[in-house]
Amino acid sequence: MSGFSFDWLTLREPVDALSRHPDVLRRLQIAFASHRDLRVVDLGCGTGANLRATACLLGPRQSWTLIDHDQALLDAAAVRLSAWADQSVESAQGVVLHKDGRRLDVRFRHADLARDLETSIGGAVDLITASAFFDLVSSDFIEMFALIAARYRSAVYAPMNFDGHQAFLPPHDADDTMLRAFNVHQTSDKGFGPAAGGEAGHRLVGSLTALGYDIVTGDSPWLLGYEQQDLMQRTIGGIAMAVAEIGVISGDVSTAWRMARRSSGRVGHIDVLAIPGPAIGHP
Ligand SMILES: C[S@@+](CC[C@H](N)C(=O)[O-])C[C@H]1O[C@@H](n2cnc3c(N)ncnc32)[C@H](O)[C@@H]1O
Repeated sequence: MSGFSFDWLTLREPVDALSRHPDVLRRLQIAFASHRDLRVVDLGCGTGANLRATACLLGPRQSWTLIDHDQALLDAAAVRLSAWADQSVESAQGVVLHKDGRRLDVRFRHADLARDLETSIGGAVDLITASAFFDLVSSDFIEMFALIAARYRSAVYAPMNFDGHQAFLPPHDADDTMLRAFNVHQTSDKGFGPAAGGEAGHRLVGSLTALGYDIVTGDSPWLLGYEQQDLMQRTIGGIAMAVAEIGVISGDVSTAWRMARRSSGRVGHIDVLAIPGPAIGHP
């Protein structure tokens, strides 16, 4: 199980928003420029950060379904989104938000995506999006996801997939060992079978390309400095904990590495946008 805390998602939200690759965002905006009504599904929505970062690029009327298996995060999403919007009114299925001249009909779906992805998506939609999600899932899940997206001719926007690279300055003797061990941990089962981890972005690109999608990718690393000390410390602590969990290196090394003073860091991510080509959806 994943167990993502509200605090962690809150800490990363502004850095994620700054890190998203601008060309990928621009291509997303262009792809939907003529859509006045848009149906969007957000997989593993957490507190709704992906909607807050993406809705401003899309058309005047958007209908969003936010899916997560953590009810506390879905409840937090409803609160955060209402506070973020210019106006918010409860509806039978969720909430209607008005933000910067756009109307967003948002519904929340509590579901375990590992069990029933297709039912959770709930039918044809224009865009399936998922931020910082695909590195948790298995390659088989990605393959299945791509087939479902293609069947519905849905575009896919998947930002912030960890790409297996990270570095902190000043360097520490154990950096390479820690990164190798962390990447092993990244492939552990998060509820979907062996996770794709740092390979997720490339797997997604491979699966969607094979189905005829046009792909745009861009690097979206976290660049962590003085202003992002809290996120950097939490990231370093999380890496040390993950490595200790799998026990491939000694606890002493992991502790020494965690305690080292760092002034900056880079955590690699890849953003993926996939637009259905003419052959999609008619397999
Ligand atoms: C790294 S967080 C990203 C959250 C959000 N997309 C964001 O960018 O802030 C991964 C999210 O996936 C959700 N998740 C993990 N496994 C899931 C599953 N089996 N079904 C549904 N949601 C899941 C977690 O609860 C968490 O909210």
